[in-house]
Amino acid sequence: MHYFKYIDGELYAEGVPVKRLIEAYGTPLFVYSYKTLTRHFNAYHEAFRRFPHIICYAVKANANGAILRSLAALGSGADVVSGGELYRALKAGISARKIVYAGVGKTDEEIALAIKKGILMFNVESEQELVRINEVAESISKRAPIALRVNPDIDPETHPYISTGLKKNKFGIPIEDALQYYRLARQLKNVQILGIHKHIGSQITQIKPFVDALERVLLLADSLKRDGIDIRYLDIGGGLGIRYNDETPPHPKELAKALFPLLSNRDFTIILEPGRSIVGNAGVLLTKVLYTKKGADREFIIVDAGMNDLMRPTLYGAYHHIIPVKKRKRKKIVADIVGPICESGDFLAKERQLPAPRQHEYLAVMSAGAYGFSMSSNYNSRPRPAEVMVRNDKYYLIRRRETLQDLIRGEVIPEFLRK
Ligand code: LLP
Repeated sequence: MHYFKYIDGELYAEGVPVKRLIEAYGTPLFVYSYKTLTRHFNAYHEAFRRFPHIICYAVKANANGAILRSLAALGSGADVVSGGELYRALKAGISARKIVYAGVGKTDEEIALAIKKGILMFNVESEQELVRINEVAESISKRAPIALRVNPDIDPETHPYISTGLKKNKFGIPIEDALQYYRLARQLKNVQILGIHKHIGSQITQIKPFVDALERVLLLADSLKRDGIDIRYLDIGGGLGIRYNDETPPHPKELAKALFPLLSNRDFTIILEPGRSIVGNAGVLLTKVLYTKKGADREFIIVDAGMNDLMRPTLYGAYHHIIPVKKRKRKKIVADIVGPICESGDFLAKERQLPAPRQHEYLAVMSAGAYGFSMSSNYNSRPRPAEVMVRNDKYYLIRRRETLQDLIRGEVIPEFLRK
């Protein structure tokens, strides 16, 4: 559910015709709907009301400070995976006490920063990391709160690049070895065991993998209890899918309903780490048709947004709806919608049927709020797009378009090349 819709054939973001945003800021342009964003967050809150819970928004999905602030104001915590994300989350006013920190490659500096800031807990992904966190904590005379991220070996039935909870994935500790690592953690003076973490993948459209994974994690919690290790936080990760095309992902309500029977009579605080399902359908990418051409084999619509702006189609073969900013009566064609980058992999859609757009018209790439801007790059020396947030009939620039100077900021020319 989102607030991008046509009124009299014109695409609107909430109460603003997106054409007006294009006139103000140009293209390519990311546009976010505040109402959609907050609605999705509140849907989680509402769904898990019956349990003590913290929603730790996965910053990697979209790290813009205005998005983070919007969520912080509703009580969101953050799931971070780098010192950079930690910095952004704190800067946006998210309480350190609601920040969890995952990722297989935390550096000493990142660990020390997170301890000093007083995060809720580290989601620890290996034995060496556990030992290192203990050492870093000792060196600054602190105790680091931890959960172990366990890999429950569950197939989330999603794209292989975004599955994380299978034996062959690099994430977490094999669940069958977890007890032994918790015992080790108990020996370490500068760590404090607070929880268990699991996250099995992303864009999951079934309930069953969540239930299966939780069952395994609860068995672990039971065996830890028998061992005298009490778990307070159960971090069940993120991963709930969204509708890009014709998927029918479960609502957070349905997820909560399926998990209730497993969690009742237990007094865990549940942590959730949704990213995509909060921000994915709250954003679109607006782009201009630069040229159209007929190749020998197929037609091409060449637009001003490329794989550097939205890399999901080329990286995962991901589908995004692409619709005209102004609806017109046109015959339908089948075309590849491609960007200006010098790679055949630079496409937003392949063999897509759509009403034939003409040069200088605008298109909207839907569901681009998550893993859109956050995965963008400057490849081909393309300044990254501006970002705008719409709230009712007002709009706000939340990141200015990069300039050509931005492209070379930070570069240093060696003396011998200066003249
Ligand atoms: N927690 C952890 C530990 C994660 O690794 C992730 C995502 C999340 C939470 C949030 O998952 P979500 O609710 O957004 O599914 N770039 C890919 C998605 C990569 C997801 C990585 N981890 C894409 O564009 O599909």
